[in-house]
Amino acid sequence: PRCIFFSRHGESMYNVSGKIGGDAVLSPRGEEYSSALPKLVRDNLKDQPMTVWTSTLRRTIQTAQELNYPKLQWKALDELDAGLCDGMTYEEIEKKYPEDYANRDKDKFTYRYRGGESYHDVVLRLEPIIMELERQSNILIIGHQAVLRCILGYFMNLSIQDIPYLRIPLHTLIKLTPRAYGCDEERFRVKI
Ligand code: F6P
Repeated sequence: PRCIFFSRHGESMYNVSGKIGGDAVLSPRGEEYSSALPKLVRDNLKDQPMTVWTSTLRRTIQTAQELNYPKLQWKALDELDAGLCDGMTYEEIEKKYPEDYANRDKDKFTYRYRGGESYHDVVLRLEPIIMELERQSNILIIGHQAVLRCILGYFMNLSIQDIPYLRIPLHTLIKLTPRAYGCDEERFRVKI
């Protein structure tokens, strides 16, 4: 059966410093993950054809760099836009915008960053991606935390309230195999 693979990009320099958003390049550990990915994918896919989708941000493109498959960049796969908070750490946000910080905690799915997006906004802009995923054969998406939570949430039938809290660690390949009802999920963690 066909399957859909998901992975966050390798660790970025912003992940290292705890900043959100931005367009940082990979850290040395992130580069190691991008080098480990081709074998991990090949072990699972065997010789089947596949297409790799990335966002337009450098950290996903760099993570896909050593994968030898046709590739497509989607702007719709870019990370949730944190607006005024882009490039800040959660601590800095809590200090500078305490009310926003508290509101996000209260309703993470609906909270929209000033000048940016909410999880709800991301779900809406992902609609064409989901439609295309339903039609395609094997796809690997190299994406971002919030965006992958929304896509996986859709395929796993998660409730709206759970989506923003779904655990999607770095350096982990997730394999979804659609079944008649729901999907099987497997996870492969690369220790770096
Ligand atoms: O920290 C990585 C990151 O992808 C940020 O760019 C993004 O704002 C965040 O994760 C989304 O996660 P959360 O919604 O839990 O803040």
